[in-house]
Amino acid sequence: MIVIESVAGMQAQSRNWQQSGESIALVATMGNLHQGHISLVDIAKNKADRVVVSIFVNPTQFAEGEDLDTYPKTWDADKTACELAGVDCIFFPGESEMYYKNKSIGVSEESLSQSLCGASRPGHFSGVVTVVAKLFNICLPDYAVFGRKDFQQLSIIKRLVRDLNFPIEILEGDIIREADGLAMSSRNQYLSADERLAALLINQSLHAAELLYESGEKQCSALIRRFLETAEQVGLRIDYAEIRSVEHLELLEMVFEQSVFAVAVYVGDTRLIDNVVLKSTEI
Ligand code: PAF
Repeated sequence: MIVIESVAGMQAQSRNWQQSGESIALVATMGNLHQGHISLVDIAKNKADRVVVSIFVNPTQFAEGEDLDTYPKTWDADKTACELAGVDCIFFPGESEMYYKNKSIGVSEESLSQSLCGASRPGHFSGVVTVVAKLFNICLPDYAVFGRKDFQQLSIIKRLVRDLNFPIEILEGDIIREADGLAMSSRNQYLSADERLAALLINQSLHAAELLYESGEKQCSALIRRFLETAEQVGLRIDYAEIRSVEHLELLEMVFEQSVFAVAVYVGDTRLIDNVVLKSTEI
């Protein structure tokens, strides 16, 4: 496995692979790799000849007061995890390699990013979409793999590829959960033991709403009420709990098409997200 820190070095490596007819899949990460990331690497490996994992804690997607400074950095463990997973290359740039001091161009998304996490974290998705566009231009992948846990991010990246004509196929990875159901996230390690227990209610409450849906309830307000009843029992502070269409993330009143029930919840000071896709049934 090789580690490349420079943009020019990464582009040269990817061009070499391209010239020898090898396809490339990118798994973009901010490091602190867990099984969720490795599941994306597995998808990448099944599809492409070469797998690149980028590790870059992107400052432009963190707002003032968010956890940029404390975001866990675990380079040695990440490198070992990539080696064991059969990654071909880690792209590991520093901040000055990624961003010119006088940078003046970025990418913004003006529809899908206005709600959910975008509403609570102004500027977040401009930061994400710009760095992902840059990573696409640097790593030159044929495929890029993103997880469904960040459902809104995935939707926006698919729109980025469509609207800016990146010749890249986006592959999707399922949410990977701990044995007790908590969705894997680098931010889980901020939780105290009590908070970790309380956080279990996020998935359990989503599941309660999903069961109600499967029993025939199609009204979003009733499904959201079911989620809140359970989640608020343990004092979780809800940032949002919304049901939206999968395709355009439009707010729904009735689940009449494939929809996503997406939530963001504060457990203590830690903000966690999760979601469940409500599959369309005959209505
Ligand atoms: O999902 C993440 O880890 C980040 O938002 C991403 C896609 C690597 C961009 O910095």
